[in-house]
Amino acid sequence: MNSFLDIHTTDKAALRGMIDNARRMKDARAGQPKGALDGELPLKNRMVALIFEKPSTRTRVSFDLGVRQMGGQTMVLSGKEMQLGHGETIADTARVLSRYVDLIMIRTFEEATLLEMAEHATVPVINGLTNRTHPCQIMADVMTFEEHRGPIAGRKVVWSGDGNNVCASMIHAAGQFGYDFTFTGPSTLDPEAEALAFARAQGVNAVIERDPALAVQGADLVVTDTWVSMHDPQSARERRHNQLRGYQVNAALMAQAKPEALFMHCLPAHRDDEVTSEVMDGPNSVIFDEAENRLHAQKAIMRWCLNT
Ligand code: CP
Ligand code: NVA
Repeated sequence: MNSFLDIHTTDKAALRGMIDNARRMKDARAGQPKGALDGELPLKNRMVALIFEKPSTRTRVSFDLGVRQMGGQTMVLSGKEMQLGHGETIADTARVLSRYVDLIMIRTFEEATLLEMAEHATVPVINGLTNRTHPCQIMADVMTFEEHRGPIAGRKVVWSGDGNNVCASMIHAAGQFGYDFTFTGPSTLDPEAEALAFARAQGVNAVIERDPALAVQGADLVVTDTWVSMHDPQSARERRHNQLRGYQVNAALMAQAKPEALFMHCLPAHRDDEVTSEVMDGPNSVIFDEAENRLHAQKAIMRWCLNT
């Protein structure tokens, strides 16, 4: 039994296997209606709980659809409506759910909640985003890059903006998939030092460059995300916008990267804040491929968890 908690804590060869499997499953479905069942039905008779303590469009729909395509069933649960939101411990919730379902996906606030769920569940647990990381997103992003540009190993990925949860997983993946990573943003919003140290320990460059125009020189991929995440206090909004304005991804910034540099954003985006509509809708943007590939990547993750 495997839980998928983070990219840096998952075996490198297993991660590569999941990306390749996702691609294979995506290709096998080409031209089929979205609701068509996969031939192999690897999740036949399996029940999956999808728990959300924060809002979601992509994670919710792509996990639910992915389970159904593989012949399984889902229960989509809102944390607030569970006893979990009214004082029952995470450990007891994990023990109870493990008697009902074969797999648990949870989107939550504190990483400690995810880890406690995984420790006490007797079924695999998948990280659907915490304040600290978002590994499913970055598996889809690695898959998306490779579909468009071939192997990501040895490439240069630049993150402009807030060094947040999605950024941390992007840095973990730099170490695991072997690409170089540059963060550009204000020092108050730097990504966590442990993530950078992890990537460096795997032998890749993981650096900070305050000047965005310098940071994106030679980039194969430019990435950003919302300036205010779901766990950030709304009161921080104005200050963050002032700090981050200079790190907006716009045509002038993209012009400093390689001409073939891709643009990614996990979405939801705030158009003309962290990225201009011109870049989002431009020829190098692959944002909707990323969203689609959440489906395929997570199907591969679930199969790895359940060994099916
Ligand atoms: N990118 C992503 O995780 O989107 P949702 O918040 O809509 O799930
Ligand atoms: N950084 C964002 C990602 C949303 C998918 C957040 O945590 O709100």
